This record gives sequence, structure tokens and C-alpha cells, in this order.
Amino acid sequence: MSDDIKISVDPDYFTREKEFTPKDFESDTTSIASRIAQGRIENGRRYQALKEDDYWSPSDEKQFEAQENGTSSTLAQARDHGQLMPPIGTQQQPSVESTSSPPPITWIPPNCVFEVDDVLKEWTWRESFDFIHIRQLLGAFDEEGWAELYKKCYENLTPGGWLEQMEFDVRLHSDDGSLKPDSLLAGWGDNFIGCSARAGRSLKTQETMRGAIEKAGFVDVHENLYKVPLGPWPKDKQLKEAGQLNYLHWLSGLEGYAMWLLTKFGAPEPWSPEEVQVYLAGVRKEIKSTSTHGYGYARRVWARKPTAGEVVKREPVD
Ligand SMILES: C[S@@+](CC[C@H](N)C(=O)[O-])C[C@H]1O[C@@H](n2cnc3c(N)ncnc32)[C@H](O)[C@@H]1O
Repeated sequence: MSDDIKISVDPDYFTREKEFTPKDFESDTTSIASRIAQGRIENGRRYQALKEDDYWSPSDEKQFEAQENGTSSTLAQARDHGQLMPPIGTQQQPSVESTSSPPPITWIPPNCVFEVDDVLKEWTWRESFDFIHIRQLLGAFDEEGWAELYKKCYENLTPGGWLEQMEFDVRLHSDDGSLKPDSLLAGWGDNFIGCSARAGRSLKTQETMRGAIEKAGFVDVHENLYKVPLGPWPKDKQLKEAGQLNYLHWLSGLEGYAMWLLTKFGAPEPWSPEEVQVYLAGVRKEIKSTSTHGYGYARRVWARKPTAGEVVKREPVD
């Protein structure tokens, strides 16, 4: 080392009281990461701990399994149309998935990255996307939140890129009168739509998403509506398979769908966890009945960001 280079060392650097020390970085990141990974436990279920604002769905293994069954049932029903509707080709692009709590990942494709973050916060990805797919985010945001999310999608898509969203309707129907109007299952959807209205974040996302996507400036808007049977009652093989998967979806998902909304926003006043369990026992019994031929709807909307210079004919917005 040359003599004219002087290195000044503060011998007390690591012992002097300071606002933070290198150790703080370590413990902070560790504790923030583990707090988010552990989530928040309530009534025996784990919920996200990323943001203050609660989200109705648990983020635990049990609910991830239910969601997988739910998605598989819709895709089984919709398979004639394809897994994705936008004409984006079959290239396996690098892909990123955003979620508010880490999923139990046992296998992920090499081109997929999960990011645990609040999707309404600033998006920090540097490159724009060719395609954005949103699925089962029903009841996550109020109108303003949805407008913000679609705005972010619009801004972060390449011109000509596609947005697709797939959502369930939580209400059940039957075409042959087998779903009795006074049954728990017939009242299920409106019960939760009521809870979500009181929570200020409606579960009717499948009804409102198209209008909100159009309002954000997307063009070439399409939609499909699918009937997803509950149970193996249909004669048609494809529908029967969708119904079997949806049956598993309901049985595995019931408690997660119900607990947060009913204990916080149940009518006429919030329900106790025990009341919820009694209700769910009754619902389970009805789901297992072979005489009910129930089904729910799933809706898919897909739309394109205009290309640069494309003239967009817009309806006047009031
Ligand atoms: C009903 S689950 C559906 C999960 C998955 N999209 C699927 O189709 O199986 C809803 C997901 O939305 C995530 N979520 C809710 N609010 C969010 C937010 N503000 N930012 C990011 N993810 C959010 C939750 O973590 C949860 O995993």
C-alpha cells in the first residue's frame, strides 16, 4: 500500500449509539419477511399480513387447495375455449405473478416468478407486459381500487397487449327447480354479497369488471359466461368433470369463504365462529345431496390496449 493513502478508521463505529446498525438491517428484513410469510392467524386460519387492509380470503394451504379446485373446475368447463382467450400465441414468456401472501410453492415453471406485494402499490417492474391475467380477485377492492388496478394494467401493457380477467359469481342457480328457494344454498350468494357490501368491497366483481375495464381505455372487449355445475349431476362428460371439481372446491373452500366475512360483516350482526360452523355444517349437508342440480356462473372478460396511433371510437363517458 502506498504511503500517501490514508485510511481513517473510527474504532467505535460499531459500538457507538447510532440510529441503526448493520444488525438492524438483518433482523428487520428477517422479521418483516417472516411476519409476511407467517401471516395473521384468526379463527384457526392464516390471513395475509402484508397490508393493513384485510382481505376476506385466508392465505393458507387449505384455501390454496380450494382455489386450485375452483380454477380447475372452471377451466374444465371452459376447455373448449382454451385456458387463455387473448390471441397471444403459445410462447412461454417470462412470467410474474403478484399475490399478497406467499403461496405454498411445490413446483413452479422456470419462467415464472412470484412477487409478494400489494398490487395497488407502485409497480416496479421495468419492462412492460404483453399480457396480464387477473383471476379470482373478487371482493378485493372498492370501485376506486379497481379503477386504479386497471389503470396500472393499462400503463404497464405494451401497446396491443391484452388484459384478461376471470371471476366467479358467488350465487347458485338451478334450471329444474331442484335448488329450493328456502335452502341454505339458495341464500348463500346473497348472504355473502350482503357482507361484502357492508365491507365496502363488493363480491359482484364479475358483473362490474367489464365496464371498469372499458372505462380504463381498453378496446376490443370480449366476454364469455360459463355455467359451472356444483356436483357430478350433469350427464355431459365435460360438465360432470367440472361439477366434480367444483364439488371439491366448495367442500374445501367453504370455511375460508365464510369465516372472515360472516364474523366481521354478517347480518343482522357479526356472527360468532361457532354460528358460522353450524351454518357451514348445514351447507355441507345440502351440497352432498344428490337431488340438487345447482350451478354457478364464471365470467371471463378480455380486452386489448390500443396500439400506438390506433383511432379509438369512444362512447361519451358521463
Ligand atoms: C381468491 S384468491 C385467488 C388466487 C389465484 N389468483 C387463483 O385464481 O387461484 C385471491 C388472491 O388475491 C390476493 N390478493 C388480494 N388482495 C391483493 C392485493 N391488494 N395485492 C396482491 N394480491 C392480492 C390474495 O393474496 C389471494 O391470493
